[in-house]
Amino acid sequence: MTSSIAPPIRHRPHTRLSLQPPAGLPSPIPSPTQAKGDSCFVPSLETVSPTSAMSAHKHIIDLGDDADCDAPENNTLMSCLTNMSLSSLPMPPALGNDEDDDDGQRGRERGPIVTRFPKPPSPRRSSVLGSRAEQRRIYLGPKLSDRATGGPDAGPLIERFSCLFRDQYDCKANPTGIVSLGVAENFLMEKECLQIFKLGLLNNFLSSDLSYGDSLWGSRRINKALSSFYNEWFDPAEEVMPEHLITGVGCSAVLDQLFYTLMDEGEAILLAAPYYTGFDRDLIGRGRVQLIPVYVPEGDGGFSPSSLDAFEVALAQCEKKGVIVRAVIVCNPQNPLGRTYSRETLLAYAKFCEEKDLHLVSDEIYALSVYDNPHFPHAVPFTSMLSLDVANELGCEFDRARLHVVHGMSKDFCANGLRVGALISQNNPLLLRAMANTSMLMKISSPADVIYSSLLTDKEQLHQFIELNRAKLGEAHAYIRNWFEERGVKVADSNAGHFVWVDLGGKLKFRDTPREKRVFQSLLDGGVYIAPGTAYHNKTPGWYRVTFSVSRDNLQVGLAKMERILGLYPHPK
Ligand SMILES: Cc1ncc(COP(=O)(O)O)c(C=O)c1O
Repeated sequence: MTSSIAPPIRHRPHTRLSLQPPAGLPSPIPSPTQAKGDSCFVPSLETVSPTSAMSAHKHIIDLGDDADCDAPENNTLMSCLTNMSLSSLPMPPALGNDEDDDDGQRGRERGPIVTRFPKPPSPRRSSVLGSRAEQRRIYLGPKLSDRATGGPDAGPLIERFSCLFRDQYDCKANPTGIVSLGVAENFLMEKECLQIFKLGLLNNFLSSDLSYGDSLWGSRRINKALSSFYNEWFDPAEEVMPEHLITGVGCSAVLDQLFYTLMDEGEAILLAAPYYTGFDRDLIGRGRVQLIPVYVPEGDGGFSPSSLDAFEVALAQCEKKGVIVRAVIVCNPQNPLGRTYSRETLLAYAKFCEEKDLHLVSDEIYALSVYDNPHFPHAVPFTSMLSLDVANELGCEFDRARLHVVHGMSKDFCANGLRVGALISQNNPLLLRAMANTSMLMKISSPADVIYSSLLTDKEQLHQFIELNRAKLGEAHAYIRNWFEERGVKVADSNAGHFVWVDLGGKLKFRDTPREKRVFQSLLDGGVYIAPGTAYHNKTPGWYRVTFSVSRDNLQVGLAKMERILGLYPHPK
């Protein structure tokens, strides 16, 4: 397909994300074949000078058919997400200077260490870390566990994210940095957060906070504060008690531990696509479960009770293949779509899980980040799974032992960095007991505990905080929606979260993944990061998630870059 965009000036992407790896991660050393232009994935150490970045901005990108637009040497975040490979790790000096054969034979001939590795097993089909033979090309030390090295390799992704985070735009300190509109962080309440959190810590940090505290799975203080908060804001059908909770260092850690306890390796989870890309990292990394994207209808249909039909089909397909499905995740409000589910749909999820005997995990991390959107009058208010009385509402049995709700401080309280998350499971003492075995590994630090507990217990301040945050989110959403619509870009209806879901593919006339990737990379090279839909397992290429809850200055700079790079000029009125 040919782009309608003019002028067709070819823009060769600078590899902005191919910067030096962060401290702590091994530095990639190109192998001889890579140095000769082999397509193996090795980030170049090229950086973008302010002048080259400026000249790149002069041209609107060419999206025309380009044979190499999906070539592996274009080191994009997308490549990392879809094609993670251990080859970005360093070659050991002993092997790095020579040609190596395919299975590392030469390395094995070199010295005694390699005799630790007898005959290498054939590569595992499901592994993206590579066979042990491949690993031997980059590592000659004592054997590492198959458990840790046999799964997905997050190294390249971590490298790139670290580079991105390190080079963030700041109008004074780093004016040539990357404006991040691709991460769900809320800076709209920055001033309020700093004030409230500092005071909370100052007033409430006790000498007992220097000890392990009074509980290994949180603290009595935070469990009490959280249960009272959930009772007030989540309208639970059954009162939440402190002993129904386990806290941890963010929802990622809580999800990891939860699924580690719920499921065995290889078992599967069904969840509606597009879905939050971090689930792949959080659940597969250690738990080694499978995530099965369920392609529910796009738009309203994906939020209706009939969307469960697609789950029926997916479940049947899994059964046919011998894959054991153990759980369903519902993310409400949905990330990346930024929408709340109706009570009817949540009941349909509950009914489905009861009928199929599955765990039902409800990720409600954006529960209170719901705002008014005048363009979306039929949006429904947030309903927590905790509030459902399935047995009474549907007149059918529902075993509440299968229901687990996750919520945290990162999103609703604009504090991704404090790392606080919680699991609420009200009727499954065995689960809580089993999780207690490992909960010390994710115990939140006492300063974070103090800050969050102080915020939650000052009820008046809490109300003001939540309402102000919602108003600010609504205002920022209106701004970005208007910005895209003035330029003829479709914005999906949303009423929650920190981001909008926009159809750049519709505007720029493409519907394929290579072009989605090219747009993403061109924007990144031009200094703005937005998240491509493929990273969320979205079915139709061309959609992107754009965060609006950043400072207005940063938002404007980021959008101006998008305007210039993609030629997104406003339609004349
Ligand atoms: C749906 C969802 N769940 C979980 C998380 C992880 O959050 P935390 O910062 O608490 O680890 C995120 C973060 O973006 C998210 O969007």
